[in-house]
Amino acid sequence: MLLLVGYEARPFNLAEMNGMISVAHRGASNFAPENTHSAFQKALELGADFLECDVHLSKDGELIIMHDDKVDRTTNGTGFVKDFTLEELKELDAGSKYHTSFAGEQIMTLDELLEEFYGKAGLLIEIKKPFMYPGIEEKVVTLLKERKNVSGIIVQSFDMESMRKVNLLFPELEVAILMKPSIQHLSTQKIMDLTSFATYINFNVSYVNQRVIDQIHNEGGKVLVWSTKSRRWVDKAYHYDVDGIITDFSIWPVEGPVHLVQD
Ligand code: G3P
Ligand code: CA
Repeated sequence: MLLLVGYEARPFNLAEMNGMISVAHRGASNFAPENTHSAFQKALELGADFLECDVHLSKDGELIIMHDDKVDRTTNGTGFVKDFTLEELKELDAGSKYHTSFAGEQIMTLDELLEEFYGKAGLLIEIKKPFMYPGIEEKVVTLLKERKNVSGIIVQSFDMESMRKVNLLFPELEVAILMKPSIQHLSTQKIMDLTSFATYINFNVSYVNQRVIDQIHNEGGKVLVWSTKSRRWVDKAYHYDVDGIITDFSIWPVEGPVHLVQD
């Protein structure tokens, strides 16, 4: 049994959030194993507007939903995603490390995520370490071009050149740049360059400031912020004039902190 202690929550809703969107970070990853079907399903139940996920490439070129480039932290396997075929990855247990009640949860492909969840919520798809996977941008774009409507899909990465490439390949698709914590100053010139192809410039809430948010808005861009598992940071994000919040909760944490009690 899984209990949440000392914690209340209520759904985000758009009116309450002054039009901000709520994005479920790796699904509702506070409540279910990250980047799995259970986490995405839970996020829908909690009313998330968008589901965030991370993408790598398998040995046989399939787009795989996982945060790390290795399977070790979240599954019962060891090694790099790129060294497994899809069939081998499907044999791994992506649930038990979070909690035994999720035993047997399988790794998903991006194709499966789109099939099952797109339309029920928007998708924020992060391409992880594109330098490790030559051609990953073309694969993502080819898959997304099969959809009639991509208005609820955003592709993001910490790799600016990768996002420039996605924009060139598929200009109708919205892209986002994730800012690295090491970037302390973003010049107006840089903001103009980024907003020339990226719809969103996204920050960890711990190092964003209202001046930069205003500058991005002035250039016609939008800003999403992501937070850690902390009510304080979610509150801080809410008080900025941003366009959305990416959290593990998918809900508003009223009383914190969160304690997961596992039997
Ligand atoms: O969407 C923002 C966030 O996902 C970036 O960090 O490490 O959780 O992928 P990370
Ligand atoms: Ca991510």
